[in-house]
Amino acid sequence: MSFKININPTNNSKLSNFDPNNISFGKVFTDHMFICDFYDNAWHDLRIVPFGKIPLSPTLSALHYGQSIFEGMKAYKNEDGIITFFRPDENLKRLNRSAERMSMPALPEGIFMSALEELIKLDKEWIPTAEGSSLYIRPFMFATDDFLGVKSSDNYSFMIYACPVSSYYAGHIKVRIEDKYTRAAPGGVGSAKCAGNYAASLYPRNLAQKDGFDQVLWTDGLTHSIIEETGTSNVFIVTKDGVLTPKLTDTLLPGITRKSVIQLIKDRNIQIEERNIYVKELIDWYEKGELIEMFVTGTAATITNIDTFGYLDKKFPLQVEDNMLGSQLKSELEKIKTLQLEDKHNWIVKLNLSEEVVA
Ligand code: COI
Repeated sequence: MSFKININPTNNSKLSNFDPNNISFGKVFTDHMFICDFYDNAWHDLRIVPFGKIPLSPTLSALHYGQSIFEGMKAYKNEDGIITFFRPDENLKRLNRSAERMSMPALPEGIFMSALEELIKLDKEWIPTAEGSSLYIRPFMFATDDFLGVKSSDNYSFMIYACPVSSYYAGHIKVRIEDKYTRAAPGGVGSAKCAGNYAASLYPRNLAQKDGFDQVLWTDGLTHSIIEETGTSNVFIVTKDGVLTPKLTDTLLPGITRKSVIQLIKDRNIQIEERNIYVKELIDWYEKGELIEMFVTGTAATITNIDTFGYLDKKFPLQVEDNMLGSQLKSELEKIKTLQLEDKHNWIVKLNLSEEVVA
């Protein structure tokens, strides 16, 4: 089922100022955005309007009590002009799981898909085509009650904006294994894609950056001995015996790139284990020369190799070579997304440019 969206196109496009060959991540936004509002227990007023500021009341409950969740996804345009989305169904499922945990309303699939399709149809000229670039899409929902007390809001907005991007990280990254601060605790909201999880990561990340690292590699909040994820992505470890990645718990974000990479590794008949990975094991593998590679996966980060990990006061450099597993998987995934390789797992949704939206 699709939904009627009221479209108010801009008469002041910024497209001619956009240089697709010179993109920095997250700084330029397309011409339009989607909005709808939740009140009286239902979603209303689906509309696409020129991208711009939104009026906010100082009492807006999302600002005070943090009911705010988001997704990250991407659209691609291939050489034949075909526009694709990668696993949008997974983004919607995760958005609605985050909504449930944060006591927010679910978004119907019809609204999500119609909004996505109509917005990207309107802003399709913004999709960059250079290798490694794409249109990053940010669906998000936040509480809009004007009320001072702490309770689940009765009113929400759901919005989508888009942003042409190239790589999130300029090259390989350095991560510091966190031994003091905690991203998420059992029973908490670590597996929800909620704004507060990112806020909590910033102070420790800034400390790590002062010491020359790009990111924190989070450990479990109880013992700081089990590896979890970085501030932006999931993590994979390649040893001489196969590939490992932390198993999903309620303290880890269930990454869609993570899930896809696990499948691609299985397709190659490489051993992949999802389990608790102890910091001590990682250091043992390193010291025995059995640690081959570490990489992170995420929508923004795509697949990025780690060239150094730090623990306590020690740095552990890793040799990153061309054509290691991480870069092979990155290239395979990019080719699937742009239809240069067969989409064996039905991950790709093509944007139908001719389809009319019906009420
Ligand atoms: C994403 O990868 O889409 C995220 O939400 C992470 C954020 C650092 C951009």
